[in-house]
Amino acid sequence: MTEEIERLRRDIENELADIATSEELEAFRLKHLVKKGSLADVTKRFKDVPPADKPAIGKQLNELRQFANTRFQELQNSLQVSKAASTSLDLSLAGRKPPLGTAHPISQMIDEFVRIFGSFGFDVADGPEIEDDYHNFDALNFAPNHPARDMQDTFFLADSDENLLLRTHTSPAQIRLMRTCKPPLRFIVPGRVYRNEAIDSTHLAEFYQVEGLYVDRNVSLADLKGTLIAFVEELFEGRTTKYRFRPSFFPFTEPSAEFDVLFSGSKGEAWLEMGGCGMVHPNVLQNCGIDPEEYTGFAFGFGVERLAMLKHGIDNIRLFYENDVRVLRQLS
Ligand code: PHE
Repeated sequence: MTEEIERLRRDIENELADIATSEELEAFRLKHLVKKGSLADVTKRFKDVPPADKPAIGKQLNELRQFANTRFQELQNSLQVSKAASTSLDLSLAGRKPPLGTAHPISQMIDEFVRIFGSFGFDVADGPEIEDDYHNFDALNFAPNHPARDMQDTFFLADSDENLLLRTHTSPAQIRLMRTCKPPLRFIVPGRVYRNEAIDSTHLAEFYQVEGLYVDRNVSLADLKGTLIAFVEELFEGRTTKYRFRPSFFPFTEPSAEFDVLFSGSKGEAWLEMGGCGMVHPNVLQNCGIDPEEYTGFAFGFGVERLAMLKHGIDNIRLFYENDVRVLRQLS
């Protein structure tokens, strides 16, 4: 009997060492600890042990029962604890989102220009914000005392003997492009411009324009109209219905026009000024060393904030620059 108990002890020890789940622990209990289990079985046969052996074998048996029960309790406790620990981490709970920034609405609008005109074959170029009088005015066919210069309220840089100024429009980029690239050329130039203007809900002293320029043989007014209409159709995803080209004047285009779009929003319909446009003036082509007998071109300059106001249904331009996250988040 001593050997039998010894064998059972070894079996129990080995089985206990392998238990990792509560199912395995339960199987162990059913095999050894219940009324018809192995321990009860040996205990039942204890009465047949010769009286002289009873003290020793009884002690051996008690120790085994105690050992099995204690280890069983310990394992049960530790399995419960680890189960509780694993359920306290609920992987199905929604996480906490870290705050995420987005592109500013003006950047988004410029991205739209780049995307749509990119699909028309226009490249993107850049120009300096500090310009000189020549690129901002002279080369664009503003005569020295031309009254058109008064149209621009210019910030001149103090103490500069080179007639430096903050560009009043992105059109000087036309000059730089035509003087460095040979036609055919197709570019848009997004950028910041400056005007010495009183700030109100539709005017800022600092704002964005996107200049467009296309110079090639046989570029016509029809190309200009078709290009601008295709652009707004794409930009407003077909929500615009009517366009109009209003005769206008710029020294650097002839003929010149303002491009308006009839926009239907939540507040009904309204004509919105997108910007100026026209056929590049022959004098401007000549100033850049391009033969106006051989080449023609069109140009346009759109106000970015205006378009963004239109797109988001905003009537105060200053909202874009107050950097109120509640506003920016809505426009993202
Ligand atoms: N530069 C003009 C403005 O700022 C817009 C314009 C650009 C007009 C190109 C014609 C051609 O008002």
